Amino acid sequence: MSSKYKKTLLSGVKPTGKPHIGNYFGAMKQLVEQEDSYRGFVFIADYHALTTLQNAKELRQNIIDIALDYLAIGLDPEKTVIFKQSDVPEVTELAWIFNCITTVPYLQRAHAYKDAIAKGKEVSVGTFEYPMLMAADILMYDADVVPVGQDQKQHVEYARDTAEKFNRIFGDTFKLPEPLILENVAVVPGIDGQKMSKSYNNTIGLFAEPEEIQKAVMGIVTDSSSGVPENVLAIHKLFRPEAELTALYEANKGKYKVLKEALLADIEVFIAPLREKRKKLVSDEKAVLKILAEGAEKARVVAQEKMKVVREKVGVN
Ligand code: ADP
Ligand code: TRP
Repeated sequence: MSSKYKKTLLSGVKPTGKPHIGNYFGAMKQLVEQEDSYRGFVFIADYHALTTLQNAKELRQNIIDIALDYLAIGLDPEKTVIFKQSDVPEVTELAWIFNCITTVPYLQRAHAYKDAIAKGKEVSVGTFEYPMLMAADILMYDADVVPVGQDQKQHVEYARDTAEKFNRIFGDTFKLPEPLILENVAVVPGIDGQKMSKSYNNTIGLFAEPEEIQKAVMGIVTDSSSGVPENVLAIHKLFRPEAELTALYEANKGKYKVLKEALLADIEVFIAPLREKRKKLVSDEKAVLKILAEGAEKARVVAQEKMKVVREKVGVN
């Protein structure tokens, strides 16, 4: 890896379900686009997923699925270290050390924790210290930038604070990471006009079959007074330049079915190759497992090196 001159970008993805086009345009695509500019680490955050998903069969399947998803969109294991969080046990060791220098009131200020409490949930210890495991993920690999959506920004700040605190107590050890907030990435609307989200049941799957895409597109809500169906157009803009769409929508005012069919065709052109690539990968699961194993090996070399220093600093070596 020509890592010497490049900054390090790190991203963790939780294996919790099928991706939709909102995830793709809002987050996944950027990882592939940044591949040549950074030394990249992308890992499957399976220990984070365990805070909410406690079913071995499902978790195992989700891990494979998300690896397939990222490989299918073009993430390249030659350029990016792709691995599973739990294959690098050093990271939970580091999280423990961070737990020891972090106070309870500080973690009680985390948005995710506060939300869970506000909803009357009984929060697990793992959920409570989620930010410390995430800090370990980030600081272990000396990440310079961590691309995240707004909801994860605070977690990157926690990682920064934790690096500063450790450095203050034990001497300079960790790099301070920066969140790379994808500000100019528009929120992709769902078929009901709200933000597209797994939780709202309003998604178009990134690897959907033609019938599924058709069902979703025909279900797009089209309340409009101008004859231009705003929700259809907003989704269409992801797949075709706005200038072309203006003419198309002007020429077909009020003809919602025609416009939806045009959108459907454009989505299919975009999704078909991704879907095919994913199917090919599915048929060779061994190759995918091999990629994860090789990624873990590379990540572990970095983690073990880092933990040597950390153990020395805290005095357990
Ligand atoms: P969901 O809301 O479907 O559960 P997640 O919260 O798992 O999605 O989001 C995973 C990533 O995809 C995050 O980085 C998030 O910012 C991005 N993302 C999710 N939904 C959208 C959307 N509708 N438009 C743009 N980006 C999105
Ligand atoms: N918490 C992130 C999420 O819910 C996933 C994650 C775990 C992560 N560790 C990370 C993201 C480290 C970036 C860096 O999406």
